[in-house]
Amino acid sequence: MFRMTSSDARLVMFLFIMSFTVLSTQTGPDIHLKTFCSNNALNYTRNSAFENNLKIVLKRLPSITSLTGFNYTFFGEASAEVYGQALCRGDVSSSACRTCVEKASKQIFNDCISRGEAIIWYELCQVHYSFQNMTSLSVYAGKYLDRDSKEKSVSDQVHFLKFSKYLMTNLSNEAAFNPFNMFATGKINFSRSKTIFAHVQYTRDIRPHECLKCLKSAITDLEGCCSSRKGGMVLSRNCNVRFELYQFYNVSKHLSSPTSRGKRGKKSPSIITGIGKPKRRHNNRRRPVRCGIEGEEKLLIYEFMPNKSLDVFIFDEARREQLDWETCYSIISGIARGLLYLHEDSRLRIIHRDLKTSNVLLDHEMTARISDFGMARIFGENQNNANTRRVAGTFGYMAPEYAMEGLFSAKSDVFSFGVILLEILSGRRSSGSYLTQRGQTLLTYAWRLWNEGREMEFADPLLMGRSPEIEIVTFMHIGLLCVQEDPADRPTMSFVVSALGSEPIALPLPKKPAYSLG
Ligand SMILES: *[C@@H]1O[C@H](CO)[C@@H](O)[C@H](O)[C@H]1NC(C)=O
Ligand SMILES: *[C@@H]1O[C@H](CO)[C@@H](O)[C@H](O)[C@H]1NC(C)=O
Ligand SMILES: *[C@@H]1O[C@H](CO)[C@@H](O)[C@H](O)[C@H]1NC(C)=O
Ligand SMILES: *[C@@H]1O[C@H](CO)[C@@H](O)[C@H](O)[C@H]1NC(C)=O
Ligand SMILES: *[C@@H]1O[C@H](CO)[C@@H](O)[C@H](O)[C@H]1NC(C)=O
Ligand SMILES: *[C@@H]1O[C@H](CO)[C@@H](O)[C@H](O)[C@H]1NC(C)=O
Ligand SMILES: *[C@@H]1O[C@H](CO)[C@@H](O)[C@H](O)[C@H]1NC(C)=O
Repeated sequence: MFRMTSSDARLVMFLFIMSFTVLSTQTGPDIHLKTFCSNNALNYTRNSAFENNLKIVLKRLPSITSLTGFNYTFFGEASAEVYGQALCRGDVSSSACRTCVEKASKQIFNDCISRGEAIIWYELCQVHYSFQNMTSLSVYAGKYLDRDSKEKSVSDQVHFLKFSKYLMTNLSNEAAFNPFNMFATGKINFSRSKTIFAHVQYTRDIRPHECLKCLKSAITDLEGCCSSRKGGMVLSRNCNVRFELYQFYNVSKHLSSPTSRGKRGKKSPSIITGIGKPKRRHNNRRRPVRCGIEGEEKLLIYEFMPNKSLDVFIFDEARREQLDWETCYSIISGIARGLLYLHEDSRLRIIHRDLKTSNVLLDHEMTARISDFGMARIFGENQNNANTRRVAGTFGYMAPEYAMEGLFSAKSDVFSFGVILLEILSGRRSSGSYLTQRGQTLLTYAWRLWNEGREMEFADPLLMGRSPEIEIVTFMHIGLLCVQEDPADRPTMSFVVSALGSEPIALPLPKKPAYSLG
């Protein structure tokens, strides 16, 4: 319940040995949240000079704070000086700020008679006074409210925690470097019907790195008390954080500016694959440097591609951060168009047979190219599928008819494409993840959330905050169409490419994916 970190040893010691009397009031229309009066700080006697100075400081605070929402002051001679500081929530008006600080100043005086140090929190402001200069000292002394632990729990706690933590961490950076009022608000769609709202705020007398430290502790505390609750807040002297499932703050900020898909379409790269003739793209740098036939073997040599394969990006947390939705979109559509070229646009019909994230290479511009045609088969003009006794694909990406009967076709590549698409959206591996350890495949997991209307929980939060929900839902829909059990139900790559395009097209409802037990 109580923790501190400080750059000031003196104050740490002081806080460490003091005990607190915490007066906690219910929240409600009256927005007093909490008062804490220090027990071990210097006590003052009634009607002393200190009390007099305290009254002066508390009287001053409302007007000086309302100017910008934060200020501090002090008054008095040595041994009776009083320091005061007040902060208003970043979204409140000057008059609401003043009213709040006025109320808070009166109440803190009454709540903490004779105590030399105290802090009071209201919903819209906080007031702190002390016998010593607390300006620029960063001390984390976080508290959460009783009300927090009485909040109802959310149903998907693991996911909820991931999302709310992501949001608060993101906001903590934004606020720390917001020179104007060190305040940030934001929201993130958690599911189709639920949005998490949060704010983060610091007193403006501490430095960004102290802010981040303070908030890290606060988020940890918040996790301890209310990570699975529908709301919670941690109050401390220098930093506050709060999240709710409703918009509790006043400013509506536009956090992500979804680009229209039409615009992006222009930017997205044309395809890849040097198989056959890569001439559709007038880019000499990128075509295969050699292509020939030696005996039975078809050789295809690519220019060196500097960046790594897709799996390295999507399954590595740090690298994944480089993948914004724009990039993901262009990678997905790059693979789709590459595959379309292999299946339908090249002179020969080529079935890749081992499409997976590690076979998708990304160049320095993050343009996707399908690679490793070691298992590819060339089909004759009227050939639609083939059978092999040597099944050699990669577990997790293989269509069921191929894995079980050795039957492969363009539709088995479509299946693998669907798996890749779902992996990119979720940031999870189709095999070898904790899901499979629990006997659930990524496909079943996607299917379940899809049916429950919880598509946004499937998406990786890193992607979510930066992408329009409708696109994530559409892409998940397309992914599920591709991984349907019956190859005949799966769309062709030309359908997929148009579905990914800027014009909305009607998508059939997906049937149960392959490998789902339930
Ligand atoms: C200040 O007063 C409170 C309440 O009377 C008391 O509990 C506390 O021990 C006092 N602190 C000091 C440092 O004397
Ligand atoms: C703080 O208050 C003083 C008056 O005591 C005022 O001159 C100053 O502009 C205020 N600062 C801010 C940032 O509001
Ligand atoms: C929020 O905005 C409304 C309308 O602009 C205003 O009346 C209200 O006082 C604001 N609330 C706060 C806390 O500033
Ligand atoms: C309180 O400390 C701050 C930061 O060290 C300093 O700038 C300020 O002048 C001090 N106030 C007084 C009244 O000494
Ligand atoms: C690989 O891609 C990342 C992300 O776009 C980029 O920052 C990096 O410079 C690229 N590396 C090379 C070797 O091109
Ligand atoms: C995360 O922070 C950045 C700025 O630091 C902002 O542009 C982005 O919209 C934020 N995302 C969310 C979901 O808050
Ligand atoms: C979040 O959900 C709201 C309401 O459902 C919707 O209007 C908004 O576009 C969604 N935002 C994102 C980024 O998907």
